[in-house]
Order: sequence, then C-alpha cells, then structure tokens
Amino acid sequence: MSNRVRPPRYVVHGGVPLQGVVRVSGAKNHALAAMCAALLTDDDVVLSNVPDITDVESLGELLTHLGATVDATTPGTLRINARGLDKCEAPGDLMSENRASFQVMGPLVARHHYASSAPPGGDAIGQRPIDVHLSGFEAMGAVIFRESGRFIARADDGLHGGRVFMDYPSVSGTQNVMMAATLASGSTTIVNAATEPEVQELAHLLNAMGARVSGIGTQMIEIEGVERLHGARARVMPDRIEAGTYAVAAAITGGSIEIEDSPVLVMDALLAKLKAAGAQVDATTDTLHVGATGNLRAISFQALPYPGLATDLHAPMAALLTQAKGVSIIHERVFDNRMLYVGELRKMGAEIVNTGSSAIVSGPTKLSGTNVRALDVRAGAAVLLAALAAEGTTYIDEISHLDRGYEHLDSKLRALGANVERV
Ligand code: EPU
Repeated sequence: MSNRVRPPRYVVHGGVPLQGVVRVSGAKNHALAAMCAALLTDDDVVLSNVPDITDVESLGELLTHLGATVDATTPGTLRINARGLDKCEAPGDLMSENRASFQVMGPLVARHHYASSAPPGGDAIGQRPIDVHLSGFEAMGAVIFRESGRFIARADDGLHGGRVFMDYPSVSGTQNVMMAATLASGSTTIVNAATEPEVQELAHLLNAMGARVSGIGTQMIEIEGVERLHGARARVMPDRIEAGTYAVAAAITGGSIEIEDSPVLVMDALLAKLKAAGAQVDATTDTLHVGATGNLRAISFQALPYPGLATDLHAPMAALLTQAKGVSIIHERVFDNRMLYVGELRKMGAEIVNTGSSAIVSGPTKLSGTNVRALDVRAGAAVLLAALAAEGTTYIDEISHLDRGYEHLDSKLRALGANVERV
C-alpha cells in the first residue's frame, strides 16, 4: 500500500438551485498590485479586505524574501513595511507561483535603481510576454538585459520621466510602469494604458501614498515623479470576477442569490450579457440579486479589456451557455490560450468546440458528473459551475488553481446550498 497523500479535490453533487446570500471577498488583482506598491515606501502600508488566497500568500513570501515585513496577524489585513528592503533579486521559486510577482520590478528599480527577476509564473493562458513592462522601464532610462534567463533592469542614474507607449494596454504592465514612475525624476505619460478598475485602485493608493498620478481610468495616465512616498491605508476593492462567478452560479443552477459587496458599477458588461441570456438581474450600488428560471437563451460575446467583458469571466460564461437554448459564439480577444476549459466541459457532455480564439457552444445540453481538472483559475471556475448544474457527481482535481483566486470557495458555495466537499 502506498502512503502517497493525494492533493485535495472537490467532489460536487450537482443539481441544487443555489439560494441565499454570499459576500464578495477582496479583489485578487487589486490586492496583489497594492502589496507590490508597499515596496515604494519605508512607511507602513496597511491593506484591509485582503482575500485569503494562495496568490496573496506566495507574493507575501516574495516581499519577505526581498526584506519587507508582511504582518498578517489580523485576518483580512496586511501591514507591509519595506524599510528593510535589501534585496533586488526575485528568485525563480518565488516568481513562478504567480504573475503579479513581476510587479516588484517597478518598485525595485525605482528605489534601488536595479532589479533582477526570474520570469514570472501564473496561469498558462497564453504567451504572456512582458515586453510592455520592460520597454516602459527603458523609456524611463533603464537598461534592460537578460542574464542566465533572468530579466535585469538597471538605471544607474535613477529613472527619469518618459513617454511610454504600450503596444497593448497590459494591466500589470501599466501597474508596473506607473509604480516605477512615481519615484522617477520628472513626469511620465503612459499612452494606451489599461483602464481596469484594479489599475485605477492602484493609482488611488499611490496618490494616498503621496504620488501624483492623474488621468486615472483613462488610456493616458500622467505621473509626476516625487522624491519619496509615505505610508497609507487602503481597503481592497471587492472582486468583480468573484462576484461574476457567483452570479453565473445562480443562473446556471436556476437558483436565486444575493451577492453582497459586489462592485456593481464596474460590472456592466457581465450584467448586460446575463440579462441578454435571460437571467434576472437586479442591482443596487453594492448588492446584486441574480436568479434564473431555467429558460436561458444563447448569446454571443467578446472578452475584451475593460470596460468590455472581462477575459476572466469568459470560461464561467461559457459554462453557463451550455444551458442556454441555441448557438452561442464567444470571441477571446485578450489571451491566446483561454480555452483550457473546453475539453473539460466536453467530458461532462457539453457541446462546445473551439476554433483558435473562438468557442461555439450549442445548448442546452444535459451535463453529467465525471472526473475533470481545474486547468487554470477561471477554467477551474467553469468546471465547478458546470458541476453545480450537472446530474450526478463530479470530481474536480488540480483545485490548487482555484485556491489561488477564490477565497473560501467551497464553504461559500455550501452556504448557498451547494453540495460541494473538499476532500
Ligand atoms: N501582453 C503583451 N505584452 C506584455 C504584457 C501583456 O503582449 O508585456 C499581452 C498578453 O499576452 C495578453 C494581453 O496583453 O494577450 C493582456 O495581458 P495583461 O498584461 O493585461 O494581463 P496580466 O497583467 O498578465 C492581469 C490579471 C489577469 C487578467 C488580465 C486581463 C493580474 C495579476 N492578472 O494579467 O488575471 O486576466 O490582467 O485583465 O492582475 C486571473 O485573475 O485569472 C487573471 C489571469
């Protein structure tokens, strides 16, 4: 007999319409960027509403390795202090855990004029280059080169302001360059900047720390460099992707749920598409009520940069459309490999094909429980949603991907009546 310990998996008995109230956690992609921003000052940066997810944990380990202290003694709060920041080299084992880790580069090169990093990890959802980050640092006077596979940014005389054109409005690229520019001499303009709410929230935090960022939420961000930044407090915004995932969970199970602390004002695209598909959606500024009675209609959508429908909601919406009458067409316009969920949903009986960056879903199809894998965080969400609607039992492996992005996922679903166990 082997003593091998199996990694955890979800066991889902589907078919229960979800009912009740769920509260949205803090946004992963805001929390991670805000943690990196704490490296820009010697003072404390205190973040509340930080989600308890493994991406936060692994980035915390990286910050600690670099010499910062990360105090997580109060649940949901991180107190980060980077006075002791004494390393400029981000090692491969800590970089490979997530994508946001590369956002330590901007603060490091801004403060220490030198930063070195192994390539970042993250979901295998496409090629995910980092040229936009690097050319931004270059436009601010850094010399960029590779050494033994590592990325090095060196600015012996410090960074200066520059005009940075982004080939693509990269979310983490905009955040990285924006952070670097806060401590550069002179002013920086980012042209074709990302406008995602998490980018806007980071800009507000930087301003609370004494930075001078304007054009927030537009594609032209201006940053007037300052000599030093000071500490600040920020509440991490609620996670629009998590809120969207629960909205889909209500609709796919024919249930009716209230989603508290939803960032409704930045969820227009999803709410419009849910309504078009026949779900009932009622929203106040921070609570969403979503339900469905089973008569869903096929729709088409494109996953786009904000304010378009978020690429992170593409896979969950595809799961929903397996239950909609007619043929739905999905175009992925952000990543080149966001289709990992397709094969898994097909195992459950979905009629879905992908053709490059598009997927065609025919429905409604009866889904049946089987063995599937969570191949990335959002592909994992898609199979879990399908499992909630499926007949029989679904076993979901590789759920560490879900742990990276969803706080207390199984217990939140159980509170809504779902039959989900982590075993
Ligand atoms: N891109 C480039 N060059 C670059 C950077 C990006 O061509 O230098 C391309 C990418 O290849 C991709 C597109 O730009 O096709 C978008 O990438 P972006 O840089 O905007 O994404 P990211 O910053 O790596 C963040 C989120 C993702 C989310 C995307 C898009 C974090 C830590 N991650 O990734 O979140 O999907 O923005 O909104 O903020 C997730 O939460 O599941 C997730 C993957």
